[in-house]
Amino acid sequence: MSQGTSKALKVCIIGISGKLGRYMVRHCLDRGYEVVGVCREKSVEKLDEFKDSITIFPGMTNERAIIEKAVKGCDGVLTVLAPWGIQQYSSGTAQAVLDYAPSEARLIFSCGWHITKDGRDQYSKGFQRMLRFFTWLARVFRFAEVDDQVEACRRIFASPRKWTVVRGSDLEEGPSEGLPVWSQHIGDPILNSNRTRRVDFALFMVDALSNDKLIHEAPAIVSCQSESAKKHHGDQISDQAV
Ligand SMILES: NC(=O)c1ccc[n+]([C@@H]2O[C@H](COP(=O)([O-])OP(=O)(O)OC[C@H]3O[C@@H](n4cnc5c(N)ncnc54)[C@H](OP(=O)(O)O)[C@@H]3O)[C@@H](O)[C@H]2O)c1
Repeated sequence: MSQGTSKALKVCIIGISGKLGRYMVRHCLDRGYEVVGVCREKSVEKLDEFKDSITIFPGMTNERAIIEKAVKGCDGVLTVLAPWGIQQYSSGTAQAVLDYAPSEARLIFSCGWHITKDGRDQYSKGFQRMLRFFTWLARVFRFAEVDDQVEACRRIFASPRKWTVVRGSDLEEGPSEGLPVWSQHIGDPILNSNRTRRVDFALFMVDALSNDKLIHEAPAIVSCQSESAKKHHGDQISDQAV
């Protein structure tokens, strides 16, 4: 996303009313971006504090006609991939963004560490057990489709669009600790601490809009102040320089 023009960059946030979405609004407004967004009608009031500064398109994020209108003319699209309900919510949302965002737009998607781009992530047995249990529970009680978030990312990875899929660690609230560090694979020692402030997950998403090195990457992130990041950040820099 070019920063070189005098016109304010226009960014669409899909899933703007959630916790991650609202943090992303703040980061975008701080940078002087024009912000539009999509959220469920019943959640519009959660954005009252921003109502004079942003434009909202109320609707489900997998409603293609809403997404088509919302992303029009945008330089970047920040999408919160949420697996809620039994309705192909994540894949429907991702597909609409891939189909309707302007061709040169930077597309940034959020998900968790369970997503793998190349199958080379190494998960602990505890993580795999927890994921299997949550996936089963969500299916039985019909409150979420974890597999559909996997399908959404499969479609993104197969797309020639300028995408980045940001994989968040366990999240915590609290003041910013700075831009998270990242690695390509779960299991890399720099990620061991498995914690990121939600406000910094949002910061990484917004920062990715102007970081072309992240195009076609699925960075797994961790707080830059975490123990593992402080211990291994030097390793990461030298690995990525090779
Ligand atoms: N939570 C974690 O520990 C964690 C860890 C790693 C990665 N992540 C990733 O971070 C991103 C944000 O997750 P978050 O946990 O921080 O939540 P969040 O920011 O609050 O976002 C949840 C989103 O889901 C929507 N939503 C909630 N219930 C819904 C329903 N029944 N039907 C349709 N939409 C619904 C919310 O919209 P409304 O405002 O309308 O409710 C909101 O846009 C996700 O991509 C997630 O995969 C989360």
